[in-house]
Amino acid sequence: MTELKGQLLEVSGVSVTFDGFRAINNLSFSIGPAEMRAIIGPNGAGKTTFMDIVTGKTRPDEGHVLWGEKSINLIGMNEARIAQAGIGRKFQRPTVFEDQSVYDNLLMAVKNARGPFSVLLYRPSFKDRGRVEQLASEIGLAEEIHRKSGELSHGQKQWLEIGMLLAQEPRLLLVDEPAAGMTLAEREQTTDILVEAAKTRAVVVVEHDMEFVRRLNCKVTVLHEGSVLAEGSLDHVTANQQVIDVYLGR
Ligand SMILES: Nc1ncnc2c1ncn2[C@@H]1O[C@H](COP(=O)(O)OP(=O)(O)OP(=O)(O)O)[C@@H](O)[C@H]1O
Ligand SMILES: [Mg+2]
Repeated sequence: MTELKGQLLEVSGVSVTFDGFRAINNLSFSIGPAEMRAIIGPNGAGKTTFMDIVTGKTRPDEGHVLWGEKSINLIGMNEARIAQAGIGRKFQRPTVFEDQSVYDNLLMAVKNARGPFSVLLYRPSFKDRGRVEQLASEIGLAEEIHRKSGELSHGQKQWLEIGMLLAQEPRLLLVDEPAAGMTLAEREQTTDILVEAAKTRAVVVVEHDMEFVRRLNCKVTVLHEGSVLAEGSLDHVTANQQVIDVYLGR
């Protein structure tokens, strides 16, 4: 059995084939408990598939995905159990309730974090209200807390979605292309939100916007054809000739 050696997540020797096409090829990846990591790479490199594997949406053909201090094997666990184990994933399309306020959406997420029974028997406690206000300020929506979510900008809805994920207190947050469709100001604020979140948990961000990646100021993993092509600082990986050939020089 592989030891995690202080890592929160360790993926090793993972491969997955779709109709004969090897989308992930002997991939190894690990991340520590309070670490920010960016994953970059060309279209079809396997970035989203990697997240699908970690969250239990796609089952790999081989390899290990080990989680937490007890090195729990995530392969074969269903998506709900993996989420309960502390892995949160942000999808591109926000799933906020548009008719409800920012406050109500966050409160719902705080309630859900305590399991289905607490939702049925629920009366918001003083503590929950404080938590909702804290989350709203973490995602830069303190001023918008009583607005209907449907009135928010695209970027603000994405932040609300991040807030709803943070309400579950995941130990690992996976975010796929958060900057897509955002204004520059929104992208900058998204960086700040994610950098702050990564102080107390692991955050993995897939993003094509290199300025966004630069602001994350973190280690970068470059995927290509389902494997790690390069890893290190952004300056290190962007100086790599293979990375330039397959991705940056497109
Ligand atoms: N469920 C699936 N069935 C068949 N093929 C798939 C499936 N999921 C992904 N693929 C294929 O696997 C490869 C990797 O896709 P993936 O979506 O992981 O790439 P990506 O790095 O996220 O790309 P992008 O930057 O365009 O989002 C692609 O060739 C894709 O068509
Ligand atoms: Mg993708």
